[in-house]
Amino acid sequence: MGFIRNVRKGFMYFHNGWAPSEEELALLDEYVTDEERALFMQMDAPDQQHSFEVTRHCAESLKHFPDLDKRVMMKAALLHDIGKIGARLSLVFRTFWVLAHKPFPCFCDRLAESGADARPGSLRYKMWLQIEHANLGAERLREMGVGEDVCELVIATGQRKKPKELDPDLARRIIIAADGDHIIGPDGEWA
Ligand SMILES: [Fe+2]
Repeated sequence: MGFIRNVRKGFMYFHNGWAPSEEELALLDEYVTDEERALFMQMDAPDQQHSFEVTRHCAESLKHFPDLDKRVMMKAALLHDIGKIGARLSLVFRTFWVLAHKPFPCFCDRLAESGADARPGSLRYKMWLQIEHANLGAERLREMGVGEDVCELVIATGQRKKPKELDPDLARRIIIAADGDHIIGPDGEWA
């Protein structure tokens, strides 16, 4: 997750007038059920906007790979951050996380892992949500009966790997790249 993208997402909190466009609502109509759509709408506006962007990046990559299951990938892209529902990861937190995690990834991850029992809303709890939201989201989707193929892609977005450590699975690689504002080119590499 890049610094600029995190800060941009944070600033979206100050933009009150955003609502999904007709084109974005059409994506929901096409790829998610009514129950999944209701869940999507519970996300904060910045996470909704980000999820639409991830979906568009996935669609762009998928043009090169018609054999992949587009319905599965688009649903996973739309729902990949539902584990953040209620988290209220503010601009201050997002900036703190990026600035602290970049130089001290192991320390931050260890501290975050200890935050599962922390008070909701506290810094340690937010750090824990930051590293666990993909797993939490997948668990919630499983409980709703969403397919394991979608859940596995959601989990993949939580991988704490450097971008260059490419996932060997093409579908996972596409959604991980999309989550970082990248597309996968016809050669299977980050474009
Ligand atoms: Fe994301």
